[in-house]
Amino acid sequence: MSTPALLQPLTLRDVTLRNRLVVAPMCQYSVTDGLVGDYHLVHLGRFALGGFGLVVVEATGVTADGRISHGDVGLWSDEHIPGLARIADFLHAEGAAAGIQLAHAGAKASSRRPWDGGGPVTEENARPGEAPWPTVSASDVPAGPGWPAPHALTVDELSEVRDAFVAATRRALTAGFDVVELHAAHGYLLHQFLSPLSNHRTDEYGGSLEARMRFPLEVVDAVRAAWPADRPLLVRVSAVDGSGQGITIEDTVAFARELKARGVDAVDVSGGGIGGGWEHPLGYGYQVPYAARVRAEAEITTMAVGLIVDARQAEAIVADGAADLVALAREAQDDPNFAVHAARALTEGSYDLYPVQAGPRLAGRGRLLGSLGPWTGPDPVQVREPA
Ligand SMILES: Cc1cc2nc3c(=O)[nH]c(=O)nc-3n(C[C@H](O)[C@H](O)[C@H](O)COP(=O)(O)O)c2cc1C
Repeated sequence: MSTPALLQPLTLRDVTLRNRLVVAPMCQYSVTDGLVGDYHLVHLGRFALGGFGLVVVEATGVTADGRISHGDVGLWSDEHIPGLARIADFLHAEGAAAGIQLAHAGAKASSRRPWDGGGPVTEENARPGEAPWPTVSASDVPAGPGWPAPHALTVDELSEVRDAFVAATRRALTAGFDVVELHAAHGYLLHQFLSPLSNHRTDEYGGSLEARMRFPLEVVDAVRAAWPADRPLLVRVSAVDGSGQGITIEDTVAFARELKARGVDAVDVSGGGIGGGWEHPLGYGYQVPYAARVRAEAEITTMAVGLIVDARQAEAIVADGAADLVALAREAQDDPNFAVHAARALTEGSYDLYPVQAGPRLAGRGRLLGSLGPWTGPDPVQVREPA
């Protein structure tokens, strides 16, 4: 039996992923001062034990002010390196590649944690010691109704933000990450530059698509120069804005072509985040067609994400050539063992992808269960007599 497409390795520069299954970045809003500890080691480590090829650490603030919330992970100082290095080491020890998403939230910074109600932090709703802070963006366009107007970054301030991305990239290297992903999606700062809904600038960073792409591409150039040539750089994009009036898939294909020309290795094709709501088709694999368009038209490696919930669905995405990688967020939270389960479902029940501590024992149990047949109940004891 030939190896299913989903389970085949993929090499990007000098990094080989053991399979095509990726854990998408997922903010946990669960640290103080940006410092990860045991929670993140366990949260992310279980995905390596669960067989994923690449595990991407959540949106990680390149500056303290660029965090979405007070609970975000950070990489704006050297103090953040040891905790993240411990995670990267564990992922490597368990056969997964380690990725980190570097981010600046722009106008969506200074938010409340989702379980505190979301929206902007105010003096009235702030947790003790978690005061709101002023936000920045491409223009003074609030993130939504009820949000404060951000400060429109000056050209000098743009250089500072770009340099913060570079400094965080260097720290990601020191921490031992294999993959850096730049967050240019979901309505955060780089997306706020790309989208005509949030970028109303009249200087060389606003107006035409070319001008709106300028700052994100400057960040990409600077990060690519700082990130070693043997390691892949990914960029997450929103293929379309939530509103039908914003970025189009054609814009995103043009952006992806520029990314490719600048040495970006793969585009992680997500969607939405500006303009509220989602005025596009919604359902299983709803963003896969965007990944397929970017892959075909910009001729770049893509990662698909969004309501991918089944091993056969994930296999079809790769086998059909819609994307090279398949990322899961909520499904991975629900089943951290999704990848080992997918491997069993797509092969003849192989336990080979399981950690050695579990796989052989599960295979032995599998043979016994196969000879016993299914438990049919209601009696909890269902045995066969010795021969
Ligand atoms: C708890 C949670 C946190 C998320 N945090 C991030 C994040 O840090 N960066 C990001 O780009 N997307 C983030 N997302 C979006 C996911 O990466 C993913 O694109 C989205 O959930 C759709 O995939 P799914 O249907 O597999 O969940 C988050 C999603 C969830 C559920």
